[in-house]
Amino acid sequence: MGAEQIHIFDTTLRDGEQVPGCKLDTEQKVEIAKELEKLQVDVIEAGFPISSPGDFKSVEEICKAVKTPVVCGLSRAVEQDIKVAAEALVHAKRPRIHTGIGTSDLHIYNKLNSTPEKIIERSVAAVKYAKSFVEDVEFYAEDAGRTDNEYLAKVIEAVIAAGATVVNIPDTTGYCLPHEYGEKIKYLKENVKGIHKAIISTHCHNDLGLATANSIAGIQNGARQIECTINGIGERAGNTSLEEVVMIMRQHSYLDLYNNINTPMLYPMSQLVSDKMGVNVQPNKAIVGANAFAHSSGIHQDGVIKAREVYEIMDPKDVGVEQSLIVLTARSGRAALAYKAKQVGFNLTKKELDVVYKKFLTLADKVKEVNKEALFQLCKTHLQRMPITS
Ligand code: KIV
Ligand code: ZN
Repeated sequence: MGAEQIHIFDTTLRDGEQVPGCKLDTEQKVEIAKELEKLQVDVIEAGFPISSPGDFKSVEEICKAVKTPVVCGLSRAVEQDIKVAAEALVHAKRPRIHTGIGTSDLHIYNKLNSTPEKIIERSVAAVKYAKSFVEDVEFYAEDAGRTDNEYLAKVIEAVIAAGATVVNIPDTTGYCLPHEYGEKIKYLKENVKGIHKAIISTHCHNDLGLATANSIAGIQNGARQIECTINGIGERAGNTSLEEVVMIMRQHSYLDLYNNINTPMLYPMSQLVSDKMGVNVQPNKAIVGANAFAHSSGIHQDGVIKAREVYEIMDPKDVGVEQSLIVLTARSGRAALAYKAKQVGFNLTKKELDVVYKKFLTLADKVKEVNKEALFQLCKTHLQRMPITS
C-alpha cells in the first residue's frame, strides 16, 4: 500500500483564538484564513458561531474568502448551536459542522448532570440534526482521553451510524501518555462497527507537553486527521503544533504518511499568527522558534560550519527560514569566530585569529552576544587594518 494522507485540520482561529489575549477581529481572521488556504491545510475551523455575533460574522466571511479547504464551525450538541453554525456556513464551498459532547464520567455526571445512555441519545440526535443541514458532520467526544474505551466505542459507533463523517477523539485535558492515546485509537479501529465509514481525528492538548507525541501515536494507530494550531496555541498549555506534526511526517518518511502542507510557509505563517495575536513565539520552539536553527556553542558551530547536517536534521529553507545562524557568544570557538570574521570582511590568518580570539573572549564574557558591528570593530582595532573586500 502507498503512503496514506493525513488531513491537517487547523483550529488556530477557534481553539487557538480562545486563549486570553489572542482575540482577533474578522478582518484579521480572514487574512489568516487566506494564508491557511495557501499553506494548504485541509480544514479550517473558523470559529464557534453561536458564541458571539463577531464570531458568527468571522465564520461567514471566511466561508466567502476561501475556496479549497473545508470550512468548519463548532457547536455543542444543542439544536440552536447547530442551526446557527449551519447559518454561518451557508457560503462555504465545503461546509462542515463540528458538534459533540463530553463523554468521560466527569463530564457526564459533574458537568452535564446526565447518564451515559442519555449522552449517546444526545450525540445521535445532534449528528442527525447537523446532517439535515450539511453532508459533512464531525463529532467530538469531549474528554475522550479520560473516557472508558468500551463506552467511547459505543458512542462512536452510534454517531457513525447516525451519519458522522469524521470522529474526533480529543484528549481535552492533555492527560494521556502516547501509548495510551495510541491504544485508544487502535481500540476504536478494532472494536467500532462501521469505523471504516469515518475518518478518525486526533485533537490533543499540551498540558503535559505531550500533544505532538500523542497526535503522532494517534496517526500511527489509524487516525487520519490531526487537529492542530499554528505555534501550538490553544486553551491552557495549547494544542498540537501544526508545524511539528507536519515536519515529523516529512522527516520520518518510513511512517508512510503524508500531508499536503506547503512547508516553506511554516515560518512566515508562525510570524503572521504571532504578530496578529500579539503573542511571542518562545525562542526554543521547535521548527519556528528564533533559536530553532541557531548554533551558539563552539563544538556545534565547528560541526555545522563543516557540514550543516552534523547538527541539523532539516534544512531551514524547507520551513521558510532563510538560513541557519552562527551566534557568537562566550561559548563560541575559533572556527565560528573565523567564519563570522570572514563575513564582515576579515579573512584572518592563524596569527590574527589568535589575537582576535583573546580579545573576543574578553568582550563576549561581558555581553550576551557579539554582533557583526562589534566583531568588525574588534578586528579593525586589534589588527590595525581594514577589511579586505573583494
Ligand atoms: O479540546 C476539546 O475537546 C475541544 C473540542 C471542542 C473539540 O476543543
Ligand atoms: Zn480543544
